[in-house]
Amino acid sequence: MKGIILAGGSGTRLYPLTLVTSKQLLPVYNKPMIYYPLSTLMLAHIKEVLIISTPEDTPRIERLLGDGSKLGMKLSYAVQEKPEGLAQAFLIGKDFIGDEPCAMILGDNIFYGNGLGAKLGEAKRTAEAGRATVFGYYVEDPERFGIMDFEQKEHQGGYCYRVRSVEEKPQHPKSNYAIVGLYFYPSGVAGMAQKVRPSARGELEITSLNEMYLENGILDAQLLGRGFTWMDAGTFDSLRKAANFVCMIEQYQGMSISAPEEIAYRYHWITKEQLAESAERYGKSPYGEHLRAVLENKIVI
Ligand code: G1P
Repeated sequence: MKGIILAGGSGTRLYPLTLVTSKQLLPVYNKPMIYYPLSTLMLAHIKEVLIISTPEDTPRIERLLGDGSKLGMKLSYAVQEKPEGLAQAFLIGKDFIGDEPCAMILGDNIFYGNGLGAKLGEAKRTAEAGRATVFGYYVEDPERFGIMDFEQKEHQGGYCYRVRSVEEKPQHPKSNYAIVGLYFYPSGVAGMAQKVRPSARGELEITSLNEMYLENGILDAQLLGRGFTWMDAGTFDSLRKAANFVCMIEQYQGMSISAPEEIAYRYHWITKEQLAESAERYGKSPYGEHLRAVLENKIVI
């Protein structure tokens, strides 16, 4: 299974912060924004990731994350010349994806919650079995997002959800459940994306792609319930809220969250020596301290 982080866009809503740097490199409390979506893909056990950004920002992100070897991963990079829609990522990533299933996460989307790995694991297995998955999250301002209308059914002692419709930023939303910026698709997604036609705003909408999977009867949905927090950090307000959230969680729990090196170590993608080298690289920062605590087995989960 492959993964894509789409870190494109000119970030105009964050000017002047993003005049000379990438939105996805801005801090969310104490680490660059892109650490969060990268951690999320890692929690899905995805080791091969393509990072797509603007011509100016791609080299900056590459300077930060390199080829992924420090994480036991394979990271590669590609450029999106213009922000022409989320579904374009699969056209840009066609060769990278090959005939494998592929997940995509938006570079400004932050996920947090106990049990996230299990949900991602299920979406990954579903993609490998030929079906796509989107995730729904309750929002108070559904006009701003891709929205799913769905029905809930009892299934094996829990619930499953049948999607009835998906709509991009509807004026009259049929539900309050946003489709968040994390998508799992089965093999063949680049071919499907090729069939997407530009929307009224001139973009290849991810919602149009999801609609095709829905029409083919192969779109599943999971809900991120009350134990989960999802944020996109693309505006000043949401960026500040995301930073406050991470700060609060880290202070109450007394440890860092979304530390890619820690995940790589726990999944045995890197050795103890490699983790020690990374801890060195982060010096005396709290992030470096956290990696040292992991190394010394002070933190076990
Ligand atoms: C995009 C998608 C939308 C999705 C949102 C999640 O919106 O088009 O369907 O709900 O990301 O962050 P945008 O942020 O481009 O307005």
